[in-house]
Amino acid sequence: MRLRNKDMIGLHHSTVEEINLILNTAEAMKGIINRQIKKVPTLRGRTMVTIFYEPSTRTRTSFELAAKYLSADTVGIAAATSSVSKGETLKDTARNIEAMGADVVVLRHPMAGAAALLADTLKASVINAGDGAHEHPSQALLDLYTAREKKGRLEGLKVAIVGDIMHSRVARSGIWGYTKMGATVRLAGPATLIPKDVEKMGATVCANVEQALAGADVVNVLRIQTERQQQGLFPSLREYSRMFCINRERLALAAPDALLMHPGPMNRGIEISPEVADGLQSAITEQVTNGVAVRMALLYLLIGGGAR
Ligand code: CP
Repeated sequence: MRLRNKDMIGLHHSTVEEINLILNTAEAMKGIINRQIKKVPTLRGRTMVTIFYEPSTRTRTSFELAAKYLSADTVGIAAATSSVSKGETLKDTARNIEAMGADVVVLRHPMAGAAALLADTLKASVINAGDGAHEHPSQALLDLYTAREKKGRLEGLKVAIVGDIMHSRVARSGIWGYTKMGATVRLAGPATLIPKDVEKMGATVCANVEQALAGADVVNVLRIQTERQQQGLFPSLREYSRMFCINRERLALAAPDALLMHPGPMNRGIEISPEVADGLQSAITEQVTNGVAVRMALLYLLIGGGAR
């Protein structure tokens, strides 16, 4: 089996079979990153270019490491130091990158739809590394991978997603991914940060965080995206923390063996307390490791031996 499209733009249109294929391929890739010599020739002669119009630590670095572990050549472009700062458009930037021989372009952009626009423009594969508040599929895939690895299944899991749902591409991709794989998703956050139509995606909006957490198998805490907030969506960070911060008392409402996840970067003491972020139930560091494996799988399936 192969992925149907040359691109990975989001999980909205991915099938259960495709998600399983990516997760199973990532399992094989994790075997490579656990070796002392983390290098296989799978993507020798292939080139990945990352274009990031927004900051990133985890996504960008893990795509670069994933490509390197598979022996691909990699080049990274940051918008601030490229000709974007002279006014070059996204399409022109990408066409020039493709003309130099890129096989896959990994794009992070503040506008929803930017990755889909590039995918329509380029013959090269495009991977969406986050487009505005739309989707961040590789993050959701690594979350699914981590939950499946730790819980042994996704079907039937109760997943709570807590925080700023409205601005979160991680939440949107997560809702599509978890619900497709048979998990139930409960959402909690300030009413002003819950989009009106989110239940149409298959999630349930809870009246409060305690309701979302009750008996949950997986607790996904979202970052408060202060850079995307318009004024007045919640009273203050202090108030937010008082009502929604996942701390020891709140985590105790979830299942005793509940898994705690956060996509990073964390605002410690605001949406998550240090005691649980660094506690025994936290899978946050493992999420980051699994992110490399999942991104290796995506590169292999899109531009390697597993490509269509
Ligand atoms: N989770 C995530 O996308 O992190 P970065 O912004 O550091 O890539």
